[in-house]
Amino acid sequence: MSGFLHQRSLHNPFSNPFPISSSSSTNSKKPISIFSPTILLSLLSLIVVLGVFSPWLGMPQNLFFTSKPSISKWGHYTLDQALTFVAKNGTVIVCIVSQPYLPFLNNWLISITMQKRQDMVLVIAEDYPSLYKVNELWPGHAVLIPPVLDVEAAHKFGSKGFFNFTARRPSHLLKILELGYSVMYNDVDMVWLADPFPYLQGNHDVYFTDDMTAIKPLDHSHDLPPPGNKGRPYICSCMIFLRPTDGAKLILKKWLEELQLEPWSRTKKSNDQPAFNWALMKNVKEVDLYLLPQAAFPTGGLYFKNKTWVKETKGKHVIIHNNYIVGFEKKIKRFRDYGFWLVDEHANESPLGGL
Ligand SMILES: *[C@@H]1O[C@H](CO)[C@@H](O)[C@H](O)[C@H]1NC(C)=O
Ligand SMILES: *[C@@H]1O[C@H](CO)[C@@H](O)[C@H](O)[C@H]1NC(C)=O
Ligand SMILES: *[C@@H]1O[C@H](CO)[C@@H](O)[C@H](O)[C@H]1NC(C)=O
Repeated sequence: MSGFLHQRSLHNPFSNPFPISSSSSTNSKKPISIFSPTILLSLLSLIVVLGVFSPWLGMPQNLFFTSKPSISKWGHYTLDQALTFVAKNGTVIVCIVSQPYLPFLNNWLISITMQKRQDMVLVIAEDYPSLYKVNELWPGHAVLIPPVLDVEAAHKFGSKGFFNFTARRPSHLLKILELGYSVMYNDVDMVWLADPFPYLQGNHDVYFTDDMTAIKPLDHSHDLPPPGNKGRPYICSCMIFLRPTDGAKLILKKWLEELQLEPWSRTKKSNDQPAFNWALMKNVKEVDLYLLPQAAFPTGGLYFKNKTWVKETKGKHVIIHNNYIVGFEKKIKRFRDYGFWLVDEHANESPLGGL
């Protein structure tokens, strides 16, 4: 239970939607003479560049205008187009990010690249700056599913806007299933140590991980765990694999219904996880569910807090979730302490380059 969504709600993705234009307006304040040596030198080099490249580029104005049309083009890039481009074997790996999460996105992507699965990754951007940034560095790998979140409305707890905000994850995933694809969803405060796909055994509808810290035997059951104190299990909504079956679609629809039923209040943190658990528990008979092995997919509450267990299960860990801790800085520090902040030394392996 990461408190991840709650932090996301505090950030206004519209506060600086076009950093490029704001920086150019800052520059224009500086009094620069047209005849300064720097300007003359720049003009001279531009003429040389145009002379060299224009035969390949066609009209020289391409040089000046290529970035704008290619940026606005991504505003019309549909989920259908993105899935066609990215999916391998009818399967995609998705995450959902807004601007403040880009460093975590980069870290997560580096770990996936190390397992050679990056080609299947589709980044669902929740704001235009993230959409443009990812597609500029890695064309075609980000999509925005309209409407863009209304941050003001999302802040009113219990409102339709707030429902829209918590409902985005199940609603995006349902759209992907309805287009006929299997999908693996990950929070971006995760790191892959191995390829998770070999663990998706059998032909179940929904695969997930337990967020409870209690240690299970290595040969534990793959059934939905029994309910805890709150009358429901504590399955993590952070890592889910779904096949495009009626069963998986039913879980996502019920998840959306449960979110609407949930008595949200100001004191409760915005979190879609309880509703996901009610949906799983109430439909356990209709849907083929599969609990992934704890040793491979431990909660952060176990992995980062029990060194004995980590030693005992050495070599079995597949995805590590940086949860049971709140705050970007603390998450980064913890990943650094464990050598999982790959951005420090492996930035050149990211498909996003030096983001
Ligand atoms: C695609 O599916 C085939 C058959 O199910 C499988 O053998 C292959 O390993 C899959 N490829 C990837 C990249 O998962
Ligand atoms: C909630 O989402 C619906 C459809 O996605 C949209 O039409 C509506 O305007 C949104 N409401 C608010 C308050 O954001
Ligand atoms: C930590 O892990 C060890 C080994 O699995 C276990 O025996 C012990 O009970 C765990 N400690 C806690 C506090 O859960």
